[in-house]
Amino acid sequence: MGELRGTHVPVLLERCLELLAPALGRNGRTVHVDATLGLAGHAEAVLEAHPDTVLIGLDRDTEALAHARARLARFADRIHLEHAVYDELPEVLDRLGYRAIDGILFDLGVSSLQLDAPDRGFAYAQDAPLDMRMDQTRGVTAEEVVNTYAHPDLARVLRVYGEEKFAGRIASAIIRERERGRITSSARLAELVRESIPAPARRTGGHPAKRTFQALRIEVNKELAALEAALPAALDKLNVGGRMVVLSYHSLEDRLTKQALADRVRSKGPVDLPVELPGSGPTFRLLSRGAELPGEAEVAANPRAASVRLRAAERLDPEAARQGRTDRERYRRRVKAMHQPGTGSPGSAADPRSTPGDGSGTDEEGEGT
Ligand SMILES: C[S@@+](CC[C@H](N)C(=O)[O-])C[C@H]1O[C@@H](n2cnc3c(N)ncnc32)[C@H](O)[C@@H]1O
Repeated sequence: MGELRGTHVPVLLERCLELLAPALGRNGRTVHVDATLGLAGHAEAVLEAHPDTVLIGLDRDTEALAHARARLARFADRIHLEHAVYDELPEVLDRLGYRAIDGILFDLGVSSLQLDAPDRGFAYAQDAPLDMRMDQTRGVTAEEVVNTYAHPDLARVLRVYGEEKFAGRIASAIIRERERGRITSSARLAELVRESIPAPARRTGGHPAKRTFQALRIEVNKELAALEAALPAALDKLNVGGRMVVLSYHSLEDRLTKQALADRVRSKGPVDLPVELPGSGPTFRLLSRGAELPGEAEVAANPRAASVRLRAAERLDPEAARQGRTDRERYRRRVKAMHQPGTGSPGSAADPRSTPGDGSGTDEEGEGT
């Protein structure tokens, strides 16, 4: 196992640390989950910044876990590294004896270890067997998908997971090629895709095989089903004041994240009631305004960050959430009163501009993009 530390720069590291700090820096032993441990760049920084925090690191890739274990050896007395898919988090926490957590990070997608490995087939730029499993101990490979799926299923995978406009043409080319012989190499597949895409379209949008490879990787690893199950389960495990940060790298991941958070930050009670009914209030507030994008400096230093979208949220104290609604309702009534003849005007005693809960925080923001 080689030294890989220098090859991977954790994406949006400072922003992730800043967002997690209020949750992990609280008094006493706090618990942080790195749901996508990878080469443990984020995890190492969290452990360094928070000497009282216990880390639970998950990865479905045994090779990544081995690298992470070596890198985090000096923190051995406060880490648990687990070979698991992140939707298994509740079972992992039960097994380790933790009822709740204070922080969780999802840094989705593949690691540089996986992308750069000459034998794993994730990269269209180098020839390798068509594997693409993040967990090489189980599951079907990309070779099986490419050589066994019927045309409509292949086309659907490419269209939905790759957002590939030429999904039907690429699927037809794959079926034709497979009649001549089994497709076993990533270079052959990349070439087939290139040939299927009309020449003018090849000149835009990066490498022509990029979307097909993304689609196959998502299908092989059942990535979206795992994420859809994992996000609500992770949110349920956060303590009050606990925080979740998600880094997505394509629109499908970001959409699932946005939906999971939207479900928690809105009130489910009647809009015109001055107080929140028990159990109907928002349980989280957003910490990010829409999806946060990387700055130019970050992308220049780390090209992998180019497509990242960050979303983050914090679990609310249910009583504070109820109080927040009462404050907002009081504010709305004052504004309404101001606009009625004979009542206050801006600057008078009825001026609501300094009222707490006035919507200036990100918890009041719209969903953004
Ligand atoms: C982008 S890398 C994480 C990099 C890491 N933040 C770092 O600083 O080194 C994503 C990692 O998540 C793992 N992964 C992806 N999907 C997973 C899932 N559903 N369950 C567990 N691990 C997963 C991959 O195997 C990969 O190692």
